[in-house]
Order: sequence, then C-alpha cells, then structure tokens
Amino acid sequence: MRDVIIACDFKNKEDLYEFLKPFDGLNPYLKVGMEIFYKEGPQLVKDLHAKGFKIFLDLKCHDIPNTVESAMRNLGELGVEITNVHAAGGIKMMEAARRGLDATESGKKTKLIAVTQLTSISQETLENELLIKENLADVVKQYALNAKAAGLDGVVCSALEAPIIKELGLLSVTPGIRFADNSVDDQKRVATPALAKELGSTYIVVGRSITKAEDPVAAYKRCVKEFC
Ligand code: C5P
Repeated sequence: MRDVIIACDFKNKEDLYEFLKPFDGLNPYLKVGMEIFYKEGPQLVKDLHAKGFKIFLDLKCHDIPNTVESAMRNLGELGVEITNVHAAGGIKMMEAARRGLDATESGKKTKLIAVTQLTSISQETLENELLIKENLADVVKQYALNAKAAGLDGVVCSALEAPIIKELGLLSVTPGIRFADNSVDDQKRVATPALAKELGSTYIVVGRSITKAEDPVAAYKRCVKEFC
C-alpha cells in the first residue's frame, strides 16, 4: 500500500509531459494540484488516467457543505484514486463531500482525505495569526478525529504526525518531504522519506525534491528505495 506520490506542481500540461518523459514505464503516482488543474481542467486528469497514472487530485475544497457536496459530485465523475478537503470546514462539510462523491459509481471508489494543518504552518503561525492556542499536534489530532467521525479515509499531515494518525486507524498522506541534503524551502514540518516510513506514513507526497532535482528519475527512485 505504501507509495511515493509526485507533486506535479507545473504551470501547464506541456511542462508536465516534458517532466514525465524519462519516467516512461515507471508510472509513478501523481498529485495533480490547483496550479495545473486550474489551467488544464478535468481533461488533464482524464488523459493521465488513460495513460495509466494513478491520481491524487489535491484541490483542498473548503466551502459551505452544500457547495462542497456539489463540487465533489462533479469530481466524482473523474474517478480519481484520492481527493481532499480542508478539515477546517468541519464535520458537516466533510460528510457532505463524501455524499457528493458517493453520488456516482466512479466517485464511490475515490478515497477522501482531509488536510489537517498545512505543512507550511508552524506553531507560531497557528498561535499568532490563526489565534489557535493549542499545540499543533493536538490540533492535527482533533481535525483527524473529526475526519474519522465524518467517515473519511485519512488525512494529509506532516510525517511527524503520522504516528497519531496510524493510532486512529486512518491513512496518512504526508507532504513536506526532503532528503537530508535538500533545502526545506517554505515547508516547516519536514521529514526524510526514511523517517516518514519509520513514523508510519501511508503515502509520501514529494514535490521539489524530485521535480527540481538534477535527475528527477534518480530522486524518485531514491524516495521509493527509502520509503517503500
Ligand atoms: O515541493 P514540495 O515537496 O514542498 O511540495 C509539497 C506539495 O504538497 C505541494 O504540492 C503542496 O501543495 C502539497 N501540500 C503540502 N502541505 C499540505 C498539503 C499539501 O505541502 N498540508
């Protein structure tokens, strides 16, 4: 079940297909996020599926329950393997998202996960900007409990929080992955692929450590070797 998901943060499909060329035959799991989805739309997801890629559609929906349910009804038609919402939308919104996916046969098979706290958020930001005075790990746990109560399959969190998520019986999708010799960029709560494995992540999401590497295929294989 453990797998490495490449975050395809590219501006358009031409750049993405150029990047994917040397991966021919490897068929990595891909994360399609808002940057490229807002440019290329659902057709990109259909094309990637037709080429045999598994897809985590990372659109992080967060709105009133009715709007999220309708959005998920449309996304369900794409039949992606995983999609997500922000747990900050609350239990009713997460339940509505699941209902939306369940409206289509293809959507019923889509795993729904919730973002607990972005891996770019630090304890300091949580307290000083968002006025959440609790410990970040406790916030992640509470949001994960909410996701579980809403019937979701798992959460997006930092690998550092994966043990709590495993205890709750949920799957964890963990971005903020860096090799020991990489820069952390804007991420705050980072882990190496090996540490993520040790902490019990189900999937790691790796962007710049692969996409900006001198040899992206070698970086991907290094992730697989360390994590899977
Ligand atoms: O380049 P990097 O490995 O930091 O990319 C991480 C990816 O994971 C980005 O696409 C980002 O949107 C996503 N992500 C994240 N933190 C979350 C949820 C998603 O960094 N909590």
